[in-house]
Amino acid sequence: MRNKLTKAIFPVAGLGTRFLPATKSVPKEIMTLVDRPLVQYAIDEARAAGIKEFIFVTSRGKGALEDYFDTAPQLEQELRKKGKDELLEILKSTNMDSGEIAYTRQNKALGLGHAVWCARRLIANEPFAVILPDDVIAAEKPCLAQMVEAFAETGGNMVAAMEVPEKDACAYGVLDVKEDMGRMVSTKGMVEKPKLGEAPSNLAVIGRYILTPTVLQKLNKKKTGAGGEIQLTDAIDAARDEGEDVFGFRFEGRRFDCGSKSGFLRATVAFALDRPDLRDDLQAYINEIAHSAKAAE
Ligand code: G1P
Repeated sequence: MRNKLTKAIFPVAGLGTRFLPATKSVPKEIMTLVDRPLVQYAIDEARAAGIKEFIFVTSRGKGALEDYFDTAPQLEQELRKKGKDELLEILKSTNMDSGEIAYTRQNKALGLGHAVWCARRLIANEPFAVILPDDVIAAEKPCLAQMVEAFAETGGNMVAAMEVPEKDACAYGVLDVKEDMGRMVSTKGMVEKPKLGEAPSNLAVIGRYILTPTVLQKLNKKKTGAGGEIQLTDAIDAARDEGEDVFGFRFEGRRFDCGSKSGFLRATVAFALDRPDLRDDLQAYINEIAHSAKAAE
């Protein structure tokens, strides 16, 4: 029987310079879409996919993340005293049991591949997931759960994939497609951040992965790639070179690039419009500003 997927790695060591000055003292992953930090969306998605062990690769200054997942006895006591059961329930979804969550530090910013490698001792000889919290995916069935279902059929390595415009491919890992089977593609290569006009396809890797331990062995070599960084894409492709399958999975859902300001704002609006308590008010406001913009033309 195929090993069940129970562990996920969350690389959260980045400095978040694109969001300075906010990220001077607040980890980017704690920044909120409406009222939930980015990292909460990632954790919820992992849980929905059956993940039981959450491994965070952090760096200096990310202490707020550890506090976020801890209990908050004083706050909870206050809320209990005031009978705020609803808020207590919301808080519960942020708590992690002791032992359910592990933190390891990346003490040099050597790239995503290196960040994943930092968690190697916490992964035994089993498949594992990687979730990049910057990529937020709104979907009826959460993206990683969709992938777990597909993975039960295929095994091997699987990356979430999405069509992107040719001019944007240079910002992603891009798949070289061997066979297109619709929802899934098999690959014969993968290129990290290809130069303009050199992308092997328009299918880009989005931050959800199910990987084999072979990828960790490949990362042991600490080979640098695009941008002088140790790239996860290269290690996955090296595992394929060794005969393992690497599939791209076209997920259902809407992906927001919350590593960029405009993506973050779009996600904020989309998630707010999805909330019954905020929808009408926000929609009315959007209509109002769209209307006055039109009138001003
Ligand atoms: C990372 C990966 C890249 C992937 C992207 C998805 O790049 O290296 O392969 O396509 O995430 O968001 P980054 O955005 O960290 O530059």
